[in-house]
Amino acid sequence: MWLALPLVAVLTMPPRYPDIEPMFANKCASCHDARKSANEKAQRVFEMSSYPFATGRPDTLLRDLRKGVLTRNFTEDERRALLAWLDAGALDASGNPPAWRPKG
Ligand code: HEC
Repeated sequence: MWLALPLVAVLTMPPRYPDIEPMFANKCASCHDARKSANEKAQRVFEMSSYPFATGRPDTLLRDLRKGVLTRNFTEDERRALLAWLDAGALDASGNPPAWRPKG
């Protein structure tokens, strides 16, 4: 009976960046990844060649990502996955939150 516990732990773990990285790679990297483009305007907002992202907007990036989700071309499933990741604290691969701070 207790053998089942580790599986439950895995299934209920909060999402981490590697869980959503593929959809960022598919839909955002063409502008926000310095390895794929030289879009300085996009990469000032966030640059996704590593996570936590380099960002010129540490105060507002998480809020902007949440807002931006509504206007970019994510599918409904992807949008839900991104919001779940944001709600869990935008954790990195090790389960740590980024140093970015919400404003105020
Ligand atoms: C075609 C290029 C392109 C793609 C693809 C793209 N972005 Fe951007 N994005 C930009 C540019 C350029 C800016 C900066 C706009 C500015 O500074 O006025 C930006 C800004 C943003 C911002 C800040 C918006 C704000 O309120 O200022 C967010 C958040 C963002 N992008 C998220 C995303 C996400 C998430 C994806 C993938 C789903 C994505 N972007 C895909 C070009 C792109």
